[in-house]
Order: sequence, then C-alpha cells, then structure tokens
Amino acid sequence: MAEPVVVFDNVSISYVRGVEAVSNISFRLGPREVVFLLGPNGGGKSTILRAIVGLVRPVRGIVRVFGVDVKSFREWWRVGYLPQNAATFFERMPISVGEFLRASRVVKGGLSPVEALRLVGVEYPEGILDLRIHDLSGGNLQRVMLAASLVNRPELLLLDEPTVFLDQGGVAAFMQLLERLRAEWGLSAIIATHDVAALSTLASRVICVNRGALFDGDIGELVNSEQLCNIYGFHVYLVRHGH
Ligand SMILES: Nc1ncnc2c1ncn2[C@@H]1O[C@H](COP(=O)(O)OP(=O)(O)O)[C@@H](O)[C@H]1O
Ligand SMILES: [Mg+2]
Repeated sequence: MAEPVVVFDNVSISYVRGVEAVSNISFRLGPREVVFLLGPNGGGKSTILRAIVGLVRPVRGIVRVFGVDVKSFREWWRVGYLPQNAATFFERMPISVGEFLRASRVVKGGLSPVEALRLVGVEYPEGILDLRIHDLSGGNLQRVMLAASLVNRPELLLLDEPTVFLDQGGVAAFMQLLERLRAEWGLSAIIATHDVAALSTLASRVICVNRGALFDGDIGELVNSEQLCNIYGFHVYLVRHGH
C-alpha cells in the first residue's frame, strides 16, 4: 500500500486549556485522493488544516505528513496551503500579482506567474500581472490566491473555504482542474467548506466534522441523509451538478 499523504491518529486540539476545538479525529488521505471537509462554522475545519501545516499542535494524538510527524516535517514546498480569507491580507499590502506569485515560488521547477494564472483559468494572464492584488475583481482575486497555492506543483493541496468554485459554472471547472492535477502531478487535496450546497457529486469522499468526526465516506451515502441533519441541525439538500 502506498504511504498515506496525511494521517490523523486520534487528534485533539485546544486553543484554550480544557476546551477541545477538535476532538479525537482520525483519518487518512491517500495519494491522489481528494476529500471535502464539511461542517458548520466553528466545527473545526480550519483547525484541522492548520494542524496539517503545523500552525497548531495537537494536545493529543499525532499528525503525519508524507509519513513524517508534522513536528519534524520540513519539506513545505510539497504542500500548497490557501488559508481562509487569505485575500484580506492584501488590503494592507501594496503588492502586484506578478510579485506575489514570484515570491510564492520556492522550487526551481515551479510555475511562472503566467503559467500559474493560465492553469487556474485566467484568460489573459499578462494583463493582470502588474495590477495590485487589492485592485482585482472577486473572481480574479480568488484565482490568484489559488494560483499561489499551486506555483510549487505541490503534491498536497489544502484549501480553506475557497470561493473560486462557488460562483456559477465554477464548480465544474474547479473539479476538472483537480482531476487534471491528480493525473499530472499526483496531487492529493483537502478542501474545507461549510457550504454543502456547493458540493458536487464529483467529490466522492467527504469527511464531516463538528468537533468530532461525524461521517467519513462517499458523498452518495450522505445525500439527503439523516446525518446531514445531525451535522447541521436542519435539513439541507445537495445539488447534483450536471456533468
Ligand atoms: N485562534 C483561536 N483562538 C481560540 N479559539 C479558536 C481559534 N481559532 C478557532 N477557535 C475555535 O475553535 C473552534 C473551531 O474553529 P475553526 O477550526 O475555525 O472551525 P471552522 O473552520 O470549521 O469554522 C471554534 O470553536 C473556534 O471558536
Ligand atoms: Mg474555517
């Protein structure tokens, strides 16, 4: 069996002593596997992604990245991470698209700014390279953020509430991009979202968290199920996107 890309083994994380933000979470992410991390606001999705990049430490359990305890993992170029609300950082940073993408590249074989932008569907990349990031429109802003997480051709991609795939028609294009990167780069991905309705049935595996892990399996088993009600506390229905 190929080595898992991410392993959570009975992981609990606290920000405040005695209060567990996530409790006893275990899962494995295999090579080329894409998982959607689903759950209500405050459910612990961002905390789980932060633990994978070592920004928060478990109080119990162990997190492994590419087989290594995250505490001693150093090969961060193998991981693309887009934090939640990353774009708000640029409200205070007068940096251009080209500068940001060049600065994000830390490996020789990484993508050029134009290559990265084209990959995420920017039609005329040359036309936005010199724009300040905070001057971009919403769609292009999201694409630039996604492009930055991909410049090093990561093997593991972590996206925290990416809205780029939520606008109309964006879901299919986003899923196609993930498919392509799985095939070409051997990419694995974890995508956190609170927006169940945006999930395509193309996303085969979902992990639902609300402090603890409530469901880990195929999205087909989750559609309109009682479990979704339990997780969200109200009825939600998944939209099947045509494909
Ligand atoms: N920096 C922090 N300090 C204290 N508590 C935090 C911090 N970040 C998150 N939390 C708490 O941890 C829990 C999980 O939050 P989070 O991982 O952001 O959930 P989600 O991403 O699913 O909305 C929430 O109860 C939240 O209030
Ligand atoms: Mg979050």
